[in-house]
Amino acid sequence: MSAITISEDKCVGCSLCVKDCPGFCLYLEDGKAHVHDTGCIECGHCYAICPQGAVRMNGYDCKEEPVVSMTELDSQTLLAAMKSRRTVRQFTKQPVEREKIKQILEAGRYSPTGGNSQSVTFTILGCRQERAERICVDIFRKGQRIGASIAAPLKRIEISDSFFFKDAPLVIVVSARNSVDAGLSSSYMEIMAESLGLGVLYSGFFVMCARVSRKLRNLMKLPKGQKVVTCMVIGYPAVKYQRIAPRKKVKARVL
Ligand SMILES: Cc1cc2nc3c(=O)[nH]c(=O)nc-3n(C[C@H](O)[C@H](O)[C@H](O)COP(=O)(O)O)c2cc1C
Repeated sequence: MSAITISEDKCVGCSLCVKDCPGFCLYLEDGKAHVHDTGCIECGHCYAICPQGAVRMNGYDCKEEPVVSMTELDSQTLLAAMKSRRTVRQFTKQPVEREKIKQILEAGRYSPTGGNSQSVTFTILGCRQERAERICVDIFRKGQRIGASIAAPLKRIEISDSFFFKDAPLVIVVSARNSVDAGLSSSYMEIMAESLGLGVLYSGFFVMCARVSRKLRNLMKLPKGQKVVTCMVIGYPAVKYQRIAPRKKVKARVL
């Protein structure tokens, strides 16, 4: 059964939904749109495009919210803000407000996913944050003892008790079956967090630990089949950057 139902009363047979359906699940018959039983990925394009509001998506919260085009954001300001974004590694102790956490998760929920899988999971470490960091610190300290005999610069790294989460008040682990989905979702969340005055650190080191430590994965109780893709360390920044960090020239090619 498809999640889509079309109200015959409201449908005027304009075929906008039929043309926009990526799965070819809709067809026009007797001047009305109809749905095939299979193949729908529930992307909601038919719901979003219908000028008559004739489409319903069963099992979804279909509350009406205004559509806002990205063109309403000033593109030059957006680009300048993207260039000014910095990874934050020093945080104040101020907790992140519940409303802001909700808004960050809402941004993550609305990123595109392959085949509209919507399988990205956001795990807030909460009361397990300290234990998770302890596990990571132990792994890295052990690794450092072994690795420093091979690579001298490893000795220099000071693995403090707060090496992974930098005393930040919020850590969100982003997992999915598909890494690209989780990566895109994280990027949406990062931009939202920044716009709320927060700073973000992607802890790739935490992700490395999650790959090798069953104990850490058990602690997070990840849904089956999901892999940890990013770990977002979030809080109010205790630093301010005065200028944009330079970058290498763009590697773009026209063939
Ligand atoms: C996937 C990913 C993993 C990262 N892991 C870490 C990390 O474990 N520790 C850290 O200090 N920075 C980490 N970073 C931050 C990068 O070092 C940083 O993005 C890069 O140096 C550029 O600085 P900028 O983000 O301020 O532009 C990570 C960034 C990404 C995208």
